[in-house]
Amino acid sequence: MKNSIFNSLLVAGIVAMTVGCSAPKSQEKEETTEEMAKATIASEPFGELPTGEKVTLFTMTNANGVEAKVMSYGGIITSFKTPDKNGNMDDIVLGYDNLQGYLETTPYFGAIIGRYGNRIAKGKFTIDGVEYDLAVNNIGNHLHGGLAGFDKVNWNVKEVPSEKGVALEFKRTSPDMEEGYPGNLDVTVVYTLGDDNTLEFDYTATTDKNTVVNLTQHSYFNLNGSKSDILDHEIMLNADQFIPVDETLIPTGELRPVAGTPFDFTQSKKIGVEISAENQQLAYGGGYDHCWVLNDDPKEMMLAATAYEPNSGRAMDVYTTEPGIQFYSGNFLDGTITGKNGVVYNHRYGFCLETQHFPDSPNQESFPTTNLAPGETYHTTTLMKFYIK
Ligand code: BGC
Repeated sequence: MKNSIFNSLLVAGIVAMTVGCSAPKSQEKEETTEEMAKATIASEPFGELPTGEKVTLFTMTNANGVEAKVMSYGGIITSFKTPDKNGNMDDIVLGYDNLQGYLETTPYFGAIIGRYGNRIAKGKFTIDGVEYDLAVNNIGNHLHGGLAGFDKVNWNVKEVPSEKGVALEFKRTSPDMEEGYPGNLDVTVVYTLGDDNTLEFDYTATTDKNTVVNLTQHSYFNLNGSKSDILDHEIMLNADQFIPVDETLIPTGELRPVAGTPFDFTQSKKIGVEISAENQQLAYGGGYDHCWVLNDDPKEMMLAATAYEPNSGRAMDVYTTEPGIQFYSGNFLDGTITGKNGVVYNHRYGFCLETQHFPDSPNQESFPTTNLAPGETYHTTTLMKFYIK
């Protein structure tokens, strides 16, 4: 079993694995500034799925004390702590305190999304003359891989070496016809927490039949540590065009210039400035929930987005090899979810910047293809850099 190393670690309870150093975390905290702390990964049990499968929670800590907690179930980032302008650490992602919360209901908090991030119209697409039927789980359409997508499976996880900091590799084979998708799909996602306060997501997949793939990461950020909604965050999107959608959030096929519309984030601006629910251009959901068409060559790593929250001083930059980014302003958060530390996630308490190919690409001939054939390798990378401004 690929994760047998972690099964044995589970037996031992909480185990600290270190990169280039065997000191446990508590000891590192006492280290003086003369000796830079080493990045570490620790693991602990995080409960059990109804199937009896054990879920493991990993704590990745970089040399500056920036800390990401990630679990084997869904590859979910349950917590991400970074300093504010006064040096106070806050958790800047939404989620639950325990596994049960994620099992009961979750709007994809922190998870790996696959096989197809975003929507496929009516859950149908055709390859080689065969029509495939996927689960219809979102107002008549297929969303985020279906009823049991990559966010709802327990991944095989192991630590892998990284020159940048610490890294965890999530691996699984999605069996032929899982959620209706053809082909056995071997998927590897590597999360790297860099000592330069970066979080990198590297996705690879291969198939044994023609299929479609569009992987992404669904963390909800609130750079103010969930102390307020996200409307005061300033966002920049490196995109001169966005993808208009119908009332069920399926692209019309048009790529429309952002100039002169509320979708123009080419210069950094507060999310709240033009988000007004009365603004008819924002369509269903009353807020931003659209894919922007990134400028520049999608094959190269490029700056896709920036976000800045003035109270905390926290900022983040997003780089990607993907052609699009879904900017979702948490429109469907409505106060019904109580998250970590009893915080109620009211309307627009988190935002997502989901790098990806465009929604419904399998049915939109003019969009960059999401097809993957045997012998080809799907490979995309997204990097988020966190800093103080
Ligand atoms: C979608 C939203 C959806 C949310 C999660 C986003 O990626 O674009 O429409 O509500 O995920 O539930």
